[in-house]
Amino acid sequence: MNVLVIGAGSIGSTVVKECQGLERVENCYVLDHHDARIKELQDKYDKVRPVNDLECVLQKVELAVESASQEAVKEYGKKVLDAGADLVIMSIGALVDEQLRDALYSAAKNSRIYLPTGALCGLDAVYSASEAGVTKVTLTTRKPPKSLNMDVEETTVVFQGPAREAVKKFPKNVNVAAVLSLASAGFDNTEIKLICDPNIDQNIHEINFKGPAGELIGTSKNLPSPDNPGTSYLAALSAASTVRKICSNVWIGV
Ligand SMILES: NC(=O)c1ccc[n+]([C@@H]2O[C@H](COP(=O)([O-])OP(=O)(O)OC[C@H]3O[C@@H](n4cnc5c(N)ncnc54)[C@H](O)[C@@H]3O)[C@@H](O)[C@H]2O)c1
Repeated sequence: MNVLVIGAGSIGSTVVKECQGLERVENCYVLDHHDARIKELQDKYDKVRPVNDLECVLQKVELAVESASQEAVKEYGKKVLDAGADLVIMSIGALVDEQLRDALYSAAKNSRIYLPTGALCGLDAVYSASEAGVTKVTLTTRKPPKSLNMDVEETTVVFQGPAREAVKKFPKNVNVAAVLSLASAGFDNTEIKLICDPNIDQNIHEINFKGPAGELIGTSKNLPSPDNPGTSYLAALSAASTVRKICSNVWIGV
């Protein structure tokens, strides 16, 4: 299998490391604005190849992992799917744009789109439970002031409302809100509460779900990635484990 990794930052480099260890992956093509990031990965991992001609690479890859930005989802998503390759999207916030979402979903006729659980805990159970319907779903995110570029001395609720509004006002929180909405009640019926808490140093996400299947509560207390304090380590590991699942015959937790 040949894999294309779009974006060689915190998440992308974790995916490249995973690809290096997977027997099924033959070549790992890497695309990034910054050549130095690709070179760094090439020096570390012998499966890494730079992308000189994207059209040519798209003919060779079976799987692409977007770990770059919402702009990259717009720029490369449809091209990947039109070429017949599967696509893992990490910048899931891009899918709030209904036109883009429809275009990508329709382009995936002969391929698949994977939306990993990212920084959340329990999204798999929420998705299963939503088969029977959703009575109420809430995501409460607690972040330290530096993660929100704020300066507060007391715990402060900075936003409470539907996911559609939250992703516009707080784009940095957009991926978790977007993936939870897509897995459950949609952007208008998924409630987001964002709290700035000066007493913590982790990003904490708590899902509360109620429906005919029961009640679910999932909390992740995320430590930052070793090489990017802005990204939860769990999000990078979720991208890597998605690639491992795709490459393996046994899927755990699906
Ligand atoms: N789903 C989740 O739970 C979750 C969690 C954290 C981050 N994310 C998202 O995943 C993406 C990657 O996160 P990260 O922490 O690895 O970021 P990062 O800043 O560490 O790395 C991103 C890399 O992508 C490159 N890049 C950006 N746009 C590009 C483009 N159009 N073409 C080529 N290269 C491009 C940048 O040069 C950079 O090297 C971000 O959009 C982030 O919001 C998702």
